Amino acid sequence: MHIMEQQKDWYHHAVMYQIYPRSYRDSNEDGVGDIGGIIEKLDYIKNLGVSGIWLSPIYPSPMYDNGYDIADYTDIDPIYGSLADFDHLIEEAHKRNLRVMLDFVPNHTSFLHPWFLESKSSRDNPKRDWYIWKDPKPDPANGASGSPPNNWITVFDNTPSAAWTWDETTQQYYMHSFFPQQPDLNWRNPEVIHAMGDVLRFWLQRGVDGFRIDVLYYLLKDEKFLDEPENPKYRPGIDHPNEKLVHLYSKDQPDTLKLMSYFNAVLDEFENKFMVSETYVSIPETIKIYATSVRRSHAPFNFHLIFQPFEAKAFKTVIDEFQTGIQEHDLPIYVLGNHDQSRIATRLGGQQQARLAAMLKLTLPGVPFVYYGDEIGMEDYKDLPVEKRKDLFVEGNRDPERTPMQWNADTFGGFSDVEPWLPINPQYKNIHVNKQEKDEKSMLSLYKSLLRLRRSLSSLLDGRYLPVAIDVEHVFGYIRAYGNEEILVLLNFSNEIQTFQLPYETKLIMNTYMDTKSSYIKKYSFFLRPYEGALLRVV
Ligand code: NOJ
Repeated sequence: MHIMEQQKDWYHHAVMYQIYPRSYRDSNEDGVGDIGGIIEKLDYIKNLGVSGIWLSPIYPSPMYDNGYDIADYTDIDPIYGSLADFDHLIEEAHKRNLRVMLDFVPNHTSFLHPWFLESKSSRDNPKRDWYIWKDPKPDPANGASGSPPNNWITVFDNTPSAAWTWDETTQQYYMHSFFPQQPDLNWRNPEVIHAMGDVLRFWLQRGVDGFRIDVLYYLLKDEKFLDEPENPKYRPGIDHPNEKLVHLYSKDQPDTLKLMSYFNAVLDEFENKFMVSETYVSIPETIKIYATSVRRSHAPFNFHLIFQPFEAKAFKTVIDEFQTGIQEHDLPIYVLGNHDQSRIATRLGGQQQARLAAMLKLTLPGVPFVYYGDEIGMEDYKDLPVEKRKDLFVEGNRDPERTPMQWNADTFGGFSDVEPWLPINPQYKNIHVNKQEKDEKSMLSLYKSLLRLRRSLSSLLDGRYLPVAIDVEHVFGYIRAYGNEEILVLLNFSNEIQTFQLPYETKLIMNTYMDTKSSYIKKYSFFLRPYEGALLRVV
């Protein structure tokens, strides 16, 4: 049976809300957000109109990478609560018909994970081959230990430095794509694959509705471990240090897709589960991932909009290409923000631009993801004092976009009664949930209206995406069409008024200024104010 004729699973109509648990709400006054805090805010989340939450990692961790360095895959870090608290969260979320997705971090564990402790205890330990261990090069360049096995470099070092750390005890190097405290697992070892499959099952049995897979394309390395060539286009001081080399062998290996199929098959042992993966690969490569899932219940993040200039043509090019490449029932995920990227309102240059982005995100096909705080237009805390920063990736410091949620104007913004782990952005006095709940034109009201419309219009939920040719450089437009219902979305990416003609007769539904001014002057003649987005019904 064609998938469109089947009963649709929940994720086909989902909008997910990403929570960075450390920063959402502190319920036990230790300055760190926790599961209890998320439970407290479930009514707010439900009221926002999203379908569920994705939690960045909440597993036990020494927090060298804020939880992306996991010391136990099947427990909860006490700073966030307990397994019982987590079960309670699932129960409370499901009671409200909210879904819960967890972060799955398969590429690396913490260096304190028992698997790694075993692996490094001796060369003949049964878990030795669970990680990537290599002899030094046979040269004395690096003192007694010899130099690292090849020239691979880490993502997170500011210099950049070798992706290999020497182990005195066993006289070999281990590999880590990120910090030395995050050794990479050896995904060519079937025992690792099975153990991680069981990790997924552990949480699926507890009722989680799906996962977001961390750095999917790092999992497999080329087996020859050859040196990688220098990147001739690398601009020191401008580009990310990791771009110094062309990563032919350390990531983006084609056989990653086979692993994907394995993860999908584990999910399919259960009903109605959804998988999303973090994939920084080309558009054609991203599209290949859909085919790894028999039920097409796997959707890769598409990050390409994040790296485009904020221009109508650039956005249109990415979206048109992606929409043309995928099949009708595939679920695109156009990412505009998360815990690793400068916040939308900052990156795109202001609140009006962030409103435009909200309309774009919530009217495109697929599954939109909303990063906590974007619904109130939170901005990066750019002046966050250096001595208060926590992210160990100094050069690409991500603390400014991870500051505590701004709930109200109280000291610490209603996040906590005590000083938060990371300072709250001083803008909280102006930008906070309480204030925006009372203002029908606020960013929060805009999000709620857009989400309400999305839920109520079949064209936005299931409609085809039809590109619209517009003769004006700065305007991007498209139609979402389902049966007789056609919704036209027009987005002005410029700081100037744009007027243009289109062969449609329309009726305005809403605009990003949240006023009743019509976005067209008369039939077929359209008019958009600076950074205005408008949603119109074609009549
Ligand atoms: C991607 C995550 O989003 C990021 O926050 C983390 O630091 C790296 N993966 C390493 O796990």
